[in-house]
Amino acid sequence: MEVIKSTEEIKSINFDSPFALVPTMGNLHKGHLSLVKYGIENYSEVITSIFINPLQFGKNEDFSSYPKTISQDIQLLESLGCNYLFIPEKNFAENLNIIEPKFSDVLCGLSRPTHFQGVLTIIDKFLRIIKPNACLFGLKDYQQQLIIKEFVKRKKIKTDIISLPIVREKFGLAMSSRNNYLSDEDKKFCGKIYSCIKKLAASLKTTSLEVLKSEAKDFLQNAGFEIDYLEIVDANNLSSVSKNTDKVLIATAVIYKKVRLIDNIVVSL
Ligand code: PAJ
Repeated sequence: MEVIKSTEEIKSINFDSPFALVPTMGNLHKGHLSLVKYGIENYSEVITSIFINPLQFGKNEDFSSYPKTISQDIQLLESLGCNYLFIPEKNFAENLNIIEPKFSDVLCGLSRPTHFQGVLTIIDKFLRIIKPNACLFGLKDYQQQLIIKEFVKRKKIKTDIISLPIVREKFGLAMSSRNNYLSDEDKKFCGKIYSCIKKLAASLKTTSLEVLKSEAKDFLQNAGFEIDYLEIVDANNLSSVSKNTDKVLIATAVIYKKVRLIDNIVVSL
């Protein structure tokens, strides 16, 4: 695997087509690696990027303490057969025109008001300089991939945005770099988040959404989670569920021992 640390250099490479980009912030786990594996199986070459993007962190968030495990990440990517690792310069996020996303005024966007503009602004830069045939994202960050898909379609950018399934810990907790802040026992306990939204999904057709939401919130609160949100929305545009909705997103963000955890399920109606 070739490690590239300069924007000028990555711009000058003629990748074998079709090639895929997997943008990450590092501290790679099986969720990230599932994207890289998909890329290797379906494209001629894969570039993984590692960049802890300052633009997407709020003032009181964990930008400076975000876990950094670069040599371990390199080993993992090497062992999978990733072709390139791009680690941009520190100033990669400087002097960019901030891009305003759609679908960012709900769910995670409410408690993290500048998060998605930071994500979109940096992804736009990656797409402009690397011009991949495909860019791979995880459905764990459902709102993120929806915002990027909408932007790429609206701007007619010639990159396929591919969304891939959530990879989970043994007891159901969605894998996340922030799970590092939790003990094994905590991770097992946090499996309750997934069981709760799975149970909710199973009752979608028989119980009103308001009742389901309030029962699920009560359950999580009583278990010891602080709830940021738990919502059931149209999965196509994150608006209220209507008679035209064909796909529902059940999404939640909770805080456990100061760690913010997100999860979701999509159900076709
Ligand atoms: P990061 O949190 O490092 O995640 C990188 C990619 O891995 C995202 O597409 C995310 O959805 C995916 N991912 C994370 N956990 C996953 C899991 N358990 N199962 C499947 N996929 C998972 O998301 C970001 O970085 C940043 O916002 C980024 C897109 C790199 C822009 O800075």
